[in-house]
Amino acid sequence: TNSQRLLVVANRLPVSATRKGDASWQLEMSVGGLVSALLGITEFETRWIGWAGVNVTDEIGKKSLTKALADKRCVPVFLDEDLVNLYYNGYCNNILWPLFHYLGLPQEDRLATTRSFQSQFDAYKKANQLFADVVSEHYIEGDVIWCHDYHLMFLPKYLKERNNKMKVGWFLHTPFPSSEIQRTLPSRSELLRAVLVADLVGFHTYDYARHFVSACTRILGLEGTPDGVEDQGKLTRVAAFPIGIDPGRFIRAIQLPQIKEHIKELEERFAGRKVMLGVDRLDMIKGIPQKILAFEKFLEENPDWHDKVVLLQIAVPTRTDVPEYQKLTCQVHEIVGRINGRFGSLTTVPIHHLDRSLDFHGLCALYAITDVALITSLRDGMNLVSYEFVACQASKKGVLILSEFAGAAQSLGAGAILVNPWNITEVASSIGYALNMPAEEREKRHHHNFVHVTSHTSQEWAETFVSELNDTIVEAQLRI
Ligand code: UDP
Ligand code: G6P
Repeated sequence: TNSQRLLVVANRLPVSATRKGDASWQLEMSVGGLVSALLGITEFETRWIGWAGVNVTDEIGKKSLTKALADKRCVPVFLDEDLVNLYYNGYCNNILWPLFHYLGLPQEDRLATTRSFQSQFDAYKKANQLFADVVSEHYIEGDVIWCHDYHLMFLPKYLKERNNKMKVGWFLHTPFPSSEIQRTLPSRSELLRAVLVADLVGFHTYDYARHFVSACTRILGLEGTPDGVEDQGKLTRVAAFPIGIDPGRFIRAIQLPQIKEHIKELEERFAGRKVMLGVDRLDMIKGIPQKILAFEKFLEENPDWHDKVVLLQIAVPTRTDVPEYQKLTCQVHEIVGRINGRFGSLTTVPIHHLDRSLDFHGLCALYAITDVALITSLRDGMNLVSYEFVACQASKKGVLILSEFAGAAQSLGAGAILVNPWNITEVASSIGYALNMPAEEREKRHHHNFVHVTSHTSQEWAETFVSELNDTIVEAQLRI
């Protein structure tokens, strides 16, 4: 174990809370790639600081939740309802999230968004100050502070303003878009400058890091070097650190007797049919409508397959207070209903669409019985579902169809079938290709992926980032 303390700061804590009484709380694991990856970090003395996903206004509530979270080494940041609305639903998920994924501002309320931009941005900065308050309270000299994701781009600046000796890293879990997109943000310069205060800035892929550096050179007029961005002799180190999963956790899970039992049940349930699987938060970036339309096209063109294939789509509800996500839910339900009506029979339907999350064991069993995983993100920082699927496929050796716009395409490109999710003709024919793939080719492709997933773990990802952060600070001191 590394003796240096690691303060992990992210908007979303690894557990989310629901209130059960005055002072009683139910804690459940949060969903999302960020939480999954960070939970794979075991070899550090870690404290988590973040939002528990619940509005708490009374002192009894705050005290009791703080205590319940302390057992999990988590420290809550309390955000009131108005702030969550403007900062989380507004600036983070209605502005930054779509822009960073090249989706543009939500179509219908573009002007309204433009008008409320300033108040949302102010709330964003205020929320970042509240995070900085809590970090400062818990900081001990020597700690490494690791800030995560687009919610906390001002945190490096606010932390260093309080104590310039803090070691601060920032990592983005989404794509960083072309500087042409960053240019359209009214707060483009302030955001970049705030991030640059960090000692080390990390991204999933080399492309995202390059986009960030060119945004800094073009928008701020700073100098980009192979190591990062330089401002009047001060270097901010910028680099790519591709994330991974904790593969052992999945490999061990599918060996457990109760999961083997569950796997057998599922196999019997779907006997005689090939299983295709999608697992996504119900988010615009995941290309769920595009995926389902491609599946429809495949059914249209391949009547022989009608009763021989089923698509299981797990669509985890997410950010449900943001109108754009509500619209997506309706849209997906409509398409699924239409296709099931068109191709279903009295006893079977081609698509099982679930608006819910699964527990870890249920998810592992599904991964294990799947013949073809279908991931069609329009953009995705990395996409860990693709890694988890591969980790659970040691015996089945199923096929991964993966969007070329997911960060994972850079690491699993040799084993997966890469597709452009916007081209449903291409996706439909890839489905056919995957379902008919000979065992030999499946094994070869799986092997490629499996080697990568088992040799690039989240633990190593974290170790590399933190040691690079420590090195960067030592080098900076030598330069003075
Ligand atoms: N996940 C989960 N429960 C579910 C479905 C998914 O915990 O019912 C997890 C999944 O195991 C994965 C994460 O959510 O670790 C999704 O991560 P990914 O990087 O694919 O996408 P993100 O949601 O971060 O955009
Ligand atoms: C993505 C983001 C994470 C976020 C997760 C779930 O993975 O990069 O920062 O935690 O989605 O979204 P939520 O809004 O529920 O935290």
